[in-house]
Amino acid sequence: MQRRRLGRSGLEVSAVGLGTWQVLDVRDREEEARHEVVGAALEAGITLFDSSPMYGEAERVLGDALCKYGRDSATVATKVWTSDDREAEHQTEDALDFFGGRIELYQVHNLVAVEKRLDLLERLKEEGKVCSIGATHHSRSAFPALMDVMRGGRVDFVQVPYNAADVAITEEVLPLAEELGLGVIAMVPLGSGRLVRKAPADKDLEPLRGFGVETWAQALLKFVLSDERVSCAIPATSKPERARENARAGEPPFFGSEEREYVRRLARR
Ligand SMILES: NC(=O)c1ccc[n+]([C@@H]2O[C@H](COP(=O)([O-])OP(=O)(O)OC[C@H]3O[C@@H](n4cnc5c(N)ncnc54)[C@H](OP(=O)(O)O)[C@@H]3O)[C@@H](O)[C@H]2O)c1
Repeated sequence: MQRRRLGRSGLEVSAVGLGTWQVLDVRDREEEARHEVVGAALEAGITLFDSSPMYGEAERVLGDALCKYGRDSATVATKVWTSDDREAEHQTEDALDFFGGRIELYQVHNLVAVEKRLDLLERLKEEGKVCSIGATHHSRSAFPALMDVMRGGRVDFVQVPYNAADVAITEEVLPLAEELGLGVIAMVPLGSGRLVRKAPADKDLEPLRGFGVETWAQALLKFVLSDERVSCAIPATSKPERARENARAGEPPFFGSEEREYVRRLARR
């Protein structure tokens, strides 16, 4: 698995990470099976795991799985997501408990109360509990506000949507990230499942085989990772074999502009 630098955080992360929205929001009997997804991901070379208190049980389930399979090999990227100052403190306390007292990448989710939350995360960084701070937003309408935060100099990286059907961040966000030396985590690389479910025929993947593409999911992930401004793409899956399949997309070679355009065309059909 290729490793990439996450902007000025100075951290190296695997090109493919694991998202946890919905897929790790489980309880009781379902938990053990989802722990295995995290175990398979780690074994396949995935190091970055993205979560949030917005994702129900996901932070707790991820924390338990990492405890079982290797917290030290993981880069945890979680988020604080609330307009309430007290609740923000609780969220960070809970997360530090789940992840063994340290969180490598702490993000302000959807820019909620962003300046105050950055104050809190900077304090945790000074205390040595957080390594690097970022901000996320999923909506194009919020990109101007996100870019203000990027220019403000308080974040090392951003998390934004990027996939073969949604390249809005290539217009301004990615060029600004490059100019400022910020890392970029690409959320929803498979279109939250919608894109990957519309798989083209096997024969349509033939021109991509030389790039190590075995499946449509891998073609979609390689599309995102072929943009060198992206540090890490974070597909979510509830299945260990898919975590392994997705991880293989993090191996070079990556696409040139012709193959990227080809995947865009397949995704639009
Ligand atoms: N900050 C934000 O505002 C924000 C917003 C959205 C997402 N995110 C982050 O980004 C992560 C990824 O986004 P996402 O979860 O919306 O969607 P995604 O990763 O684009 O797609 C996930 C879906 O794709 C399926 N899938 C995964 N690998 C597959 C494969 N190899 N073959 C076929 N299907 C496959 C999964 O189903 P199976 O479980 O059946 O494999 C799941 O339904 C989230 O989990 C979260 O961590 C952040």
